[in-house]
Amino acid sequence: MKVLVVGNGGREHAIAWKLLQSKKITQVICIPGNGATAARSDCQNFYLRVDDFAGIARCALVNGSSLVVVGPEQPLALGITDYLRSQNLTVFGPTKEGAQIESSKSWAKALMQEAGIPTPRAAVFTNLEAAKAYLAAEGAPIVVKVDGLAAGKGVTVATTVQQAQDALADLFQNPHQKVVLEEFVPGQEVSILALTDGLTIRPLLPAQDHKRIGEGDTGANTGGMGAYCPAPIATPELMKRIQEKILEPTVAALQKRGIDYRGVLYAGLMITPQGEPKVLEFNCRFGDPETQAILPLLETPLEDLLLACTNQKLADFPPIEWKSGAAACVVVAAGGYPEAFRKGDAITGIEQAEALGAIVFQAGTHLKQRQLVTEGGRVLGVTGVGETLESAIAQAYAGVNCIQFEGMYCRRDIGSAGK
Ligand code: GLY
Repeated sequence: MKVLVVGNGGREHAIAWKLLQSKKITQVICIPGNGATAARSDCQNFYLRVDDFAGIARCALVNGSSLVVVGPEQPLALGITDYLRSQNLTVFGPTKEGAQIESSKSWAKALMQEAGIPTPRAAVFTNLEAAKAYLAAEGAPIVVKVDGLAAGKGVTVATTVQQAQDALADLFQNPHQKVVLEEFVPGQEVSILALTDGLTIRPLLPAQDHKRIGEGDTGANTGGMGAYCPAPIATPELMKRIQEKILEPTVAALQKRGIDYRGVLYAGLMITPQGEPKVLEFNCRFGDPETQAILPLLETPLEDLLLACTNQKLADFPPIEWKSGAAACVVVAAGGYPEAFRKGDAITGIEQAEALGAIVFQAGTHLKQRQLVTEGGRVLGVTGVGETLESAIAQAYAGVNCIQFEGMYCRRDIGSAGK
């Protein structure tokens, strides 16, 4: 069986890596892939844009791909699934309509409010004056969110009214902007990535992401600087509540709107100090870097799970099997990230890291005349797996310590909240 994976990040490398552990998978085709998938003999990269739907469809058909897995949100929001399905391809990932759960915060809020899903109070604005009046009444802290996709950078947690006003003034420079102002809810965040066939929904192990660039969760927001799994805050009792109060009602609400959603529903939750889960956001795809910490623990063949979703057979699927223990993924970024960052620096030490047992997922890398060089902001995700979270973290950092490239940066406190 051949599978085509759309995307070029650590998430997509982890998906390809996991699929290729199965004897059933003979080849993974990556569009566009990265330095890691370029180097594997059982992978083939095709350098097409992720929004070149006709090119991707041709590539899948010519190469006989039985399944297309879409990694990033942008092509989903643009309707890649609708197009590929119209070409009789089997696609894991929601349609354009379903992807609105991530591509429009206001659409997702309305769905949650209608379905009674616990989520912070919020209001949607299309002009600065109305937003400022609401802000004056609400005060700070408050959360300012861009309505559309913003690559993880569309959220400002304003601790003062002035900060919120500055964020609003900045956003409304775009006259077509839509902004959500949301109640600030304190607590601990957890990422629940669940697989759904549009009828049934099954969560994967809970994970926790580290979104800020600096240790102690300080500094600018990023796409994610590391993750660990399972996150102990999501106890079995809490997971049951999340299933009953959030995941199942969301699938029912999507169904009620006539949306055929087959893919990942990723619930970004805040667990309040009282232990209540509230949805901060939904994403319509696997999380990154969470996937790099979750998939190394998965025992069930990934392709079986993905096909159960695309064939609407998830209700009959046996319980998902997991390795015991934990995994931790440390993201190694290029100097300057998440602002302008360096590119083209030679990367060394991956083999040494792997010899210590770490799994090195590549993200912003490129194979240039046989030399692996940096190409993106998040360059590598180094994952350790162990019987305990401590041993997983130790293995991940032992791996990181082998890696070298000019200006490399990582947080040194990944997983500390889970210990
Ligand atoms: N780690 C956050 C995300 O995937 O959106």
